[in-house]
Amino acid sequence: MIGRLNHVALVVSSLAEAAALYERTLGATVSTQHDLPEHGVSVVFIKLPNTKIELLQPLGDNSPLASFLRKNMGGGIHHVCFEVTNILQARDQLMENGARILGDGNPKIGAHGRLVLFLHPKDFHGALIEIEEV
Ligand code: CO
Repeated sequence: MIGRLNHVALVVSSLAEAAALYERTLGATVSTQHDLPEHGVSVVFIKLPNTKIELLQPLGDNSPLASFLRKNMGGGIHHVCFEVTNILQARDQLMENGARILGDGNPKIGAHGRLVLFLHPKDFHGALIEIEEV
């Protein structure tokens, strides 16, 4: 069901420092910073030949990332995102197999303007998984 790895999302405490690190030390191509107030995050995209890395920093007082950064002081891996061709079909198949969907179970428009869902980390050995319709 799942296709390509669309991105790995990393939470960082300083987006500017992390972006500079990926650009200078790792020699990667990094985007400018995008603020997404509706998601409570600021993001920098790092384009790799086979996938993307998203550096995320909390934005605003009610960011969903604030508690993550409190628990993981230096930042860390937040989620991985797999592509699917039909998100409703994928959701139904996942639920039939016992996986729980976070939220109300309906796909939302994610950071890339496409439909996404998040799966419960407890059902996936502690990893938060996002699926995105492409
Ligand atoms: Co994501």
